[in-house]
Amino acid sequence: MAVLENISSQEAMDLENKYGAHNYHPLPVVLSRGEGVHVWDVEGKQYYDFLSAYSAVNQGHCHPKIVNAMTAQAQTLSLTSRAFYNDMLGKYEKYATEYFGFDKLLPMNTGAEAVETALKLCRKWAYEKKGIDENEAEIIVCKNNFHGRTTTIISFSNDPVARKNFGPFTKGFIKIDYDNLQALEDTLESNENIAGFLVEPIQGEAGVYVPHEGYLKAARALCEKHNVLFIADEVQTGIARTGRLLAVDHENVKPDVLILGKALSGGAYPVSAVLANNAIMNVIKPGNHGSTFGGNPIAAAVAMAALDVVKEERLAQNAQELGELFRSEINKYIADSNIVQLVRGKGLLNAIVIDEDEESDTAWNICMKLRDNGLLAKPTHGNIIRFAPPLVMTKDQLLDCVNIITKTLKEFE
Ligand SMILES: Cc1ncc(COP(=O)(O)O)c(C=O)c1O
Repeated sequence: MAVLENISSQEAMDLENKYGAHNYHPLPVVLSRGEGVHVWDVEGKQYYDFLSAYSAVNQGHCHPKIVNAMTAQAQTLSLTSRAFYNDMLGKYEKYATEYFGFDKLLPMNTGAEAVETALKLCRKWAYEKKGIDENEAEIIVCKNNFHGRTTTIISFSNDPVARKNFGPFTKGFIKIDYDNLQALEDTLESNENIAGFLVEPIQGEAGVYVPHEGYLKAARALCEKHNVLFIADEVQTGIARTGRLLAVDHENVKPDVLILGKALSGGAYPVSAVLANNAIMNVIKPGNHGSTFGGNPIAAAVAMAALDVVKEERLAQNAQELGELFRSEINKYIADSNIVQLVRGKGLLNAIVIDEDEESDTAWNICMKLRDNGLLAKPTHGNIIRFAPPLVMTKDQLLDCVNIITKTLKEFE
């Protein structure tokens, strides 16, 4: 069948609805082009992107440096598998390990795959280095986590929609409250089989929950005391999103295992990675783990360009400054608002909480109105709207967006 050209929004949605599995509930807008902080629908209407593909497009849509690196590499060599060496992977591994300050990197493609990789690495380290009896290792996770969609990852989710009828589940995980040091300490003290603590430095999908200051540092210290790996899932918070290169940098915390994805490629290509030092990463031997596409030459070229852009364009600094401006402007609005309870976040990962219960459809309706007014955002949970624009935004653009948001919210007062 020939590719259909120039279809309308309605036709595109109808096609997805008829021929695609219904595993998402998208906002009804059909995008066909993106550049920087903007996207355009098939009818040519322009929007500010305030989701950035869940923080994958931190460097902005179709960043020329990233696109050039990708197309040049695609015309040279795209995939060898790891059956052979390629001339890009080693360069990328050197670049990225120096960039983030670890000895070694294990390349994967999606965030969930990188999380799975970190879990396997943690377990193997526990048996071979920590001396836990085989099959007895446990990993501590936090309630309301989001780490992806694989069978093992949903095994330790507490979202009923993500879990229902997907069992039986993988064992070996202990769920504790997020942002609760006592719960972490009690679990570590009472169980000698703990291998790792997997945590999001800010819980993104749960609704941009920022833990109290000092939580990550103290949690890291507790892990060290108990010889337990501190595993930071920075798939959503990493790569300058929260105003630092990594969200753990706000507390000068160095994880034992770092998980990256999404903006590692600027959203141009699926690229994820797990980073750790030799004492941990060297437990992985040939045949233990892998991926046909992980570490392919296009991914390597794209990731190096994407990380270059973060430094060259000072995206962490920009996210920090614009994030403060955003929250202070939204707080001015909230002072007189009946429907918005609060704004929270770090850098340009923020959310507003609508003064309604979780089941209300107000947040969805606000997102529909924001769309009509030229800005795309999506509720995370019923009454929470996440705001995460590309980090290449200018101050004037941000103020323009604040205007659209507050004007839209006023329509719901
Ligand atoms: C913290 C975190 N970890 C892992 C993932 C999974 O990434 P992916 O959708 O690329 O598998 C996500 C996705 O939103 C995430 O936010």
